[in-house]
Amino acid sequence: MARFIDELKRTHTCGELRAADIGKEVVLFGWVQYYRDFGGLRFIDLRDREGITQVVFDPDFADSHALANEMRHEYAVGVRGVVRDRGMQHSKKKNEMVSAHNTTLATGEVEVIVHEAVIFNRSETPPFEIEDETATGEEKRLQYRYLDLRRPKLQKVFITRSKINQAVRSYLTGNRFLELETPVLVKYTPGGARNFLVPSRLHANKFYALAESPQLFKQLYMVAGFDRYFQIVKCFRDEDLRLDRQPEFTQIDIEMSFINQEDIFRLVEGLVFKVWKEALGIDLHERFPDGHFPRMPFEESMRRFGNDKPDLRFGMEHTDLTALTIEHKGGGVPMLAEIAEAYLRGEDRHEVPRRIVKAMVVPASAPLSRAETDKLEEYVKGMGAKGLARAKVADDGTWTQSPFSKTITAEFRAAVNSALGVKPGDMIIFQFGSTAMVHTVMANLRLHLGRKLGFIPEYGTKGDYQFLWVVDPPLFEYDEKDDRWVAAHHAFTRPHDDCVQHLESDPGRVLCYRYDLVLNGFEIGGGSVRLHDPEVQAKVFRALGIRDDDAKAKFGFLLEALRYGAPPHGGIALGMDRLVMLLAGVESIRDVVAFPKTQKGTDLMTDAPNHVSPEQLAELRVRTVEVG
Ligand code: AMO
Repeated sequence: MARFIDELKRTHTCGELRAADIGKEVVLFGWVQYYRDFGGLRFIDLRDREGITQVVFDPDFADSHALANEMRHEYAVGVRGVVRDRGMQHSKKKNEMVSAHNTTLATGEVEVIVHEAVIFNRSETPPFEIEDETATGEEKRLQYRYLDLRRPKLQKVFITRSKINQAVRSYLTGNRFLELETPVLVKYTPGGARNFLVPSRLHANKFYALAESPQLFKQLYMVAGFDRYFQIVKCFRDEDLRLDRQPEFTQIDIEMSFINQEDIFRLVEGLVFKVWKEALGIDLHERFPDGHFPRMPFEESMRRFGNDKPDLRFGMEHTDLTALTIEHKGGGVPMLAEIAEAYLRGEDRHEVPRRIVKAMVVPASAPLSRAETDKLEEYVKGMGAKGLARAKVADDGTWTQSPFSKTITAEFRAAVNSALGVKPGDMIIFQFGSTAMVHTVMANLRLHLGRKLGFIPEYGTKGDYQFLWVVDPPLFEYDEKDDRWVAAHHAFTRPHDDCVQHLESDPGRVLCYRYDLVLNGFEIGGGSVRLHDPEVQAKVFRALGIRDDDAKAKFGFLLEALRYGAPPHGGIALGMDRLVMLLAGVESIRDVVAFPKTQKGTDLMTDAPNHVSPEQLAELRVRTVEVG
């Protein structure tokens, strides 16, 4: 029988011992963080997920001292010894005896004098040092992710993640929710994110899809009478990856019956408050005393910030100058006159004009150099903008450094200055053209400048948590390419009652009960009250140009289920990874996913995706083709 583990059980973690434990005999297990010799003694910093404890090997205990001499970085070892005060040590600098306590370490008052030790396993020299601050590139770290994950900083993230899971479970089960599962291999349904497809061996030429979310099944749970469902669930989407996106990610997925939008908001606010309290020890009541997050209509968010997930930590809001441009017939600026004339000819009279003019002010107090401004132009061109018109406001309100300054009328310039509330030295940035492009460019530019000018940190929150519900978006979106209305989210969202009359006559006016929860510019959750009324459902399908047989082929099982006394219901899904990313204040979603995919969707550690054998493909009746 082995002495350590079988006989000698661990008594404490490496983060636990304090002055009160002095004199106790303890057994610790962990990894060698540092080793050094001093005055004939060998000192080792022993690390586990809870912290670091200094252990000391004295030549008086010859066996263990000899063993300690063999110990190197990342060896897995065990020690039995006695806790003692670190005492005093000689300071060369001061030339006197000073306390040997290490105040930066939770266990820093004590050390363990080792009587007996074991090396469980040796380690090759790690490809990088296991330390919080590392210069090692992400690629290398992902290749050796199991070593990267030993870094205390990352361990902390996953300990927090585990705490959040527990807080979510206890909050939701405490509110009568059932934790229920849904299938991952599902029927492919069009719309939404692109699915990963899985060929079926038993049914040649047929495919499953990996569920992009449990959406349809959680609604079926409501039809089945389970009343309140939740699941902490993996979802799969074959999307282009970004700093806040992974192809497989985790949702806190929720659905409830006999509720309205307010009920869902109250539930989720309570959940977020609890998570912040338990994971960070932060009481969000200090910022939101009534326990609720503010709300902003979708239209206002687009107008002021250019997107539906505004970062409210700083200003630099957009000003829509479209109406003013039309009123001034372009104000002497040929490119703007074109937009105004198209509108005046009646070509662009839509609920949301198809071409708009927007501006944003870079304040004189946070100036940009000419070279920096030129760089901005390159930045926006990368997003599809033709250029970046700008104007520097002079003392008398005239504009310099601007392509507009030569031809603009004094009246239009004065009107723009006043609409923007500019002061001398400010710089105005303009963007005009297709609504979608202007919004995208201006929204990204605002964030880019916010970071560049130091209004928000590059990443992380610095304890500033600006939550916001974005509400009342339109049910439909106009698809310019196909010249038709499409569902903005999915076809099962409930329209506002007073909008139902416009469903067929004027779809652009129909708002719906969909909502996103936004935190510091990130969408951390989204959901809706569902459409359970078959009559309104039929109208929505007609507005979308979806024929009955089409609808049946695509969502037949859900439509059928809704005909059997479906309760009014709705729900939401919170993006767990994004939540942890913001809670932990890290740079990328990859830092909060234990085994993440790279931006290119690969796993550098296991080398997925990989080729499979011709036999496997034949079994699936799948043939691959070489492209490009
Ligand atoms: P939605 O598509 O808005 O809603 O997703 C919910 C939340 O999941 C997170 N999220 C992601 N996180 C990381 N990587 C991704 N690729 C990714 N995609 C989404 C976001 C998002 O807010 N079934 C609906 C919910 C409902 O209506 O109840 C749904 O999936 O934080």
